[in-house]
Amino acid sequence: MTLTIVGSQLGDEGKGALVDRWGGDADVVVRYQGGDNAGHTVVEGGAEYKLSLVPSGAVRGTVGVLGNGCVVNPNTLFTEIDDLRERGLDPDVRVARRAHVIMPYHRVLDGIEEEVKADDDAGDEVGTTGRGIGPTYEDKAGRRGIRVADLLDPDALREKLEYVVPQKRALVEDVYGIDLTGSEAQSAPGSRTQSGGDDRAEAFDVDALHEEFAAIGERLADEGMTVNCSDYLHSRREAGDEILFEGAQGTHIDVDHGNYPFVTSSNPTAGAAAVGSGVGVTTVGAGEVVGIVKAYLSRVGEGPMPTELDGDADEEALADEIRERGGEFGTVTGRPRRIGWLDLPMLRHAARVSGFTGVAVNHVDVLAGLDELKVCTGYELDGEALDTVPTTTDRWERCEPVYETLDTWEPFDSAAVAEAGYDALPEAAREYLEFVADEIDTPVYAVGVGPDREETVELTNPFEA
Ligand code: GDP
Ligand code: IMO
Ligand code: MG
Repeated sequence: MTLTIVGSQLGDEGKGALVDRWGGDADVVVRYQGGDNAGHTVVEGGAEYKLSLVPSGAVRGTVGVLGNGCVVNPNTLFTEIDDLRERGLDPDVRVARRAHVIMPYHRVLDGIEEEVKADDDAGDEVGTTGRGIGPTYEDKAGRRGIRVADLLDPDALREKLEYVVPQKRALVEDVYGIDLTGSEAQSAPGSRTQSGGDDRAEAFDVDALHEEFAAIGERLADEGMTVNCSDYLHSRREAGDEILFEGAQGTHIDVDHGNYPFVTSSNPTAGAAAVGSGVGVTTVGAGEVVGIVKAYLSRVGEGPMPTELDGDADEEALADEIRERGGEFGTVTGRPRRIGWLDLPMLRHAARVSGFTGVAVNHVDVLAGLDELKVCTGYELDGEALDTVPTTTDRWERCEPVYETLDTWEPFDSAAVAEAGYDALPEAAREYLEFVADEIDTPVYAVGVGPDREETVELTNPFEA
């Protein structure tokens, strides 16, 4: 049996918490897409871990794999592993040799493109995490990417760098008109990425890159971290092991099924678990696919959000209240997250695209004690009623949400409720959950009532479903 965890909305739904919760019943946790744009939080006994690349099973000591569908910044990975070791954990992480490597020039280019879009006032910057995700996937599709396997072979690495780096340099200098060698590099667009002036010049220097990344290859080899992912996971399954696929980001920022172009550059949806790991679709499809839902909406980055609470001062005050209570500030970038009401058209789309067998609804505690509670059940667009998300940003932006107002509930003792079980939740909270489950025709497997591992009301453990 496999379990695939997928973000149903716009990322940050609390995937890490559920991966940690159910990761105890898995033998391997596999990330199948994305990179260090992800920020997954695990809270265990009050200790909080923020993970970008190390799969969230690490807190329980479960082996983690970064599948071929991921883009890997090895420096982030090593820093994260070292930090976790300092905190007393011993993460065992394997990296697919087919995974692509985020190079320093990818991060610089991510920053430059965002700045250029911001400067032209058209409002089409995406608000990326600046981690070089898009440029790395571009090079993967363009057949000029550097893969983890290339780091293990210094000659192959040099050959690839000699091909690709001059192209990148020309892009920066000739297309964007930025001088990488002069003082201009310090103030040029993109300098808000973590590479400063000197770093930026080095990001386009074949010798410097070769030295740094060949050494990274040596560490990966010394620590026996690289695997043929498909083969490795196949062997683990043959040995009877259970696999948990940890999706990053969310359905509505999926490059195919999300709100293009305000998307990430990979497929967080469940189909990618097969492609991004080399485990067959029949295996993934025969398993459980659980959509993680936040009981309201949050979005970090640009793009439409029909139910956003930003209409007037009252709505903004309500958004502030939810943001503060829910700690809605980006794990990766610290940006305040935009807040909105739960949007069922978005969830219907998510449930269909990934074929959810169940959902986990988090942050039910955050909604407790509000004066009012609304859920968007559909949209109205040009006089037409819609029950799902339109395919274009323009149409989605113009959708007017149709709301149902539901009863609110009072704050409750999360730990006590989690221990006592579902029936201990306030009646209005149960009605809310049942309303959502009914509307998306998917059962609720778990209810998040706080960030800690123990603060989850479990109705069904997918490994026992
Ligand atoms: P992810 O990217 O989907 O793993 O989610 P993040 O970790 O970026 O953001 C979710 C935040 O909400 C984290 O701070 C979690 O610790 C926290 N969290 C998760 N589930 C719950 C819940 O049910 N209630 C509350 N209050 N916080 C939660
Ligand atoms: P987790 O896994 C929320 C958003 C960025 C931006 C867009 C593209 O923690 O849920 P990118 O850097 O990927 O090219 O940025 O996607 N984004 C996320 N939003 N949670 C995430 O990950 C995200 N990863 C990327 O804010 O709008
Ligand atoms: Mg996150």
